Amino acid sequence: MQRVCRRGIFSKDSFVCKWQQLQFFSQVAATESDCNVSHPKMPPFDYSPPPYDGPRSSEIFKKRKEFLSPSMFHFYHTPLNVVDGKKQYLFDENGRRFLDAFGGIATVCCGHCHPEVVEAIVNQTKRLQHSTIVYLNHNVADFAEALASKLPGDLKVVFFTNSGTEANELAMMIARLYTGCHDIVSLRNGYHGNAAGTMGMTAQSNWKFNVVQSGVHHAMNPDPYRGAFGSDGLKYAKDVQDLIDYGTWGRVAGFISEAIQGVGGIVELAPGYLPAVYKNIKKAGGLCIADEVQSGFARTGSHFWGFEAHGVVPDIVTMAKGIGNGIPLGAVVTTPEIAQVLTHRSYFNTFGGNPVCTAAGHAVLKVLEKEKLQENAHVVGSYLIDRLKSLQAKHEIIGDVRGRGLMIGVELVTDRQLKTPAKAETVHVMDQMKEMGVLIGKGGFFGNVFRVTPPLCFNKEDADFLVEVMDYTMSKM
Ligand SMILES: Cc1ncc(COP(=O)(O)O)c(C=O)c1O
Ligand SMILES: *[C@@H]1O[C@H](CO)[C@@H](O)[C@H](O)[C@H]1NC(C)=O
Repeated sequence: MQRVCRRGIFSKDSFVCKWQQLQFFSQVAATESDCNVSHPKMPPFDYSPPPYDGPRSSEIFKKRKEFLSPSMFHFYHTPLNVVDGKKQYLFDENGRRFLDAFGGIATVCCGHCHPEVVEAIVNQTKRLQHSTIVYLNHNVADFAEALASKLPGDLKVVFFTNSGTEANELAMMIARLYTGCHDIVSLRNGYHGNAAGTMGMTAQSNWKFNVVQSGVHHAMNPDPYRGAFGSDGLKYAKDVQDLIDYGTWGRVAGFISEAIQGVGGIVELAPGYLPAVYKNIKKAGGLCIADEVQSGFARTGSHFWGFEAHGVVPDIVTMAKGIGNGIPLGAVVTTPEIAQVLTHRSYFNTFGGNPVCTAAGHAVLKVLEKEKLQENAHVVGSYLIDRLKSLQAKHEIIGDVRGRGLMIGVELVTDRQLKTPAKAETVHVMDQMKEMGVLIGKGGFFGNVFRVTPPLCFNKEDADFLVEVMDYTMSKM
């Protein structure tokens, strides 16, 4: 803890300057006579990024507004220009360090610019960047083998894509081809992508456009906090059976869900739900698809895949984000028997499985194992969840703390009984936390849930700092 003055921190005109003074001349600040507030201090980190003399944020922002899609949104009142990354930290254009508790949306698992992942990418790029699968290359085969070894049962055949959306589109088509059925069941509040089919499976109006999205039924969300049946997984599972009985001809192509809803606000599915639903879906001839785009690759700590915590084995697993630590890469893994359906016609993806991305993916798997990052996600994540739960006892505005490993949600409400979403407060706290050096994510249907999904090398000191900064900010409201 560092003692600084209230006046210095909230001086409106030049917050960043004040902050830098605080960082570099903390001893001066600490001796000021009216200092009476303890200010959380970021854990030390022995790295300085190279100097940045590129365009400033205002210039970038102007260009972005002129030349990029007007649909693009950004975090923070004053958008942040991030120019460097190292492990769990990001650096802005002034070289100021931020604790990254969002990980590029649950994507950076090994840490920013992990040297072994970077080296794998650089080595392969120098040697051969692109070939397509019409030629042989060892990278795609080696990574597929390594990935298959991480999956249970007969899940042994891998198709590579470039994104999570593509992976889910492919999984959806495979399920339809394999079963000869069209209907798919997905969960309300789920997010599965934004192309023609996946937008249909996504079930939050803010991510849906007014275009045809056929053949998807959206089941009640087994959300222990906001759901109609609380944590009673079996009651929600009955809704899926009802959808099959009343909304389809009795047979379905499949069911898809995340193990922990990411975009939807880190919602863990009620216990007992998935096993019951998987049974009903199989009975109706459908395939069960696990969307592991966010919850996969050791993030949940207790397991490598999110679905494993529910004691189920899917027919198809889709993945992206963490698979490449940020390089564009996605994958669909299924059984040899199911994979056969794609031989009926030609299936081809120009960049899918390219040597550079698969070399990166393979390096990611090695780093996760070598650095025991799953174990770290479990230990640090459990610690952070405990600390956030203590914070909930102190601040009325925290309605719920949930999640697993380093996939954590903190839901803000203005009324705990009514669970009224505290939208404006969420934006405010997030902005203030950024000013103090902590970047967290935001999500949930109402935009009132903090998403804490940092690189898996996040440590307890980082967790302490995050909680102290959140506490400090909430105490000032
Ligand atoms: C669970 C889940 N599935 C699929 C996707 C889509 O992935 P992408 O943005 O790579 O297309 C996302 C993206 O946030 C996701 O969170
Ligand atoms: C990259 O290439 C160098 C030189 O051949 C080699 O020593 C190193 O092990 C390679 N790194 C990776 C991650 O493949």
